[in-house]
Amino acid sequence: MTKEPTNIVWHHATVTRARREAMNNHKAVNLWFTGLSGSGKSTLAHAVEERLHQLGCRTFVFDGDNVRHGLCSDLGFSVEDRSENIRRIGEMVNLFLQAGIIALTAFISPLKNDREKVQTIIGSDNFLEIHCACSLEICEQRDVKGLYKKARAGIIKNYTGISSPYEAPENPVLRLDSGSVPLEECVAQVISCLQKKQVI
Ligand code: ADX
Repeated sequence: MTKEPTNIVWHHATVTRARREAMNNHKAVNLWFTGLSGSGKSTLAHAVEERLHQLGCRTFVFDGDNVRHGLCSDLGFSVEDRSENIRRIGEMVNLFLQAGIIALTAFISPLKNDREKVQTIIGSDNFLEIHCACSLEICEQRDVKGLYKKARAGIIKNYTGISSPYEAPENPVLRLDSGSVPLEECVAQVISCLQKKQVI
């Protein structure tokens, strides 16, 4: 799949990531939200973005459902397609980091191996993994999009948590019980983590 580029020479920018970060007055990092469908990844990512924006930070949210309408509209939910989905996001996040942006990503990203590959692409220092650890029971009760019901009925195949695996991160920077902890409390924990790490 990956092939080495030939006859292509990397062009170095004079306006570097470091200069952009200095101008922005914050570092560029990737907040990688992972968890089951319905665990609150997108809700939390957007709420954290709102807070960061109010603090004057430059941010962008990448959301699984949205990205799958465009950049990844050719991909499904087989193991291979999910890997390719996450690889593309990793490459895109890498560009946004060079642009000095705090990139918030909300993808199920069920496999450890795929999440590790993102770390390889962007550098592990840039990767802050946040596990939205809402139980399957609660995600299924919420069933905002009605997809769990369809998965249980066998109408949707390879559904994460039902007929496809989810491998929880072992050492996330934060593990939030997004099933019971209120949204504002989760946001506060993420912001405090960014302050401790001197990102903002
Ligand atoms: S990932 O596994 O490749 O990281 P991603 O986050 O992009 O998944 O997309 C997940 C969203 O796609 C879910 O929130 C859900 O709305 C929808 N979806 C449709 N089919 C599936 C499926 N088989 N498994 C999981 N999510 C699915």
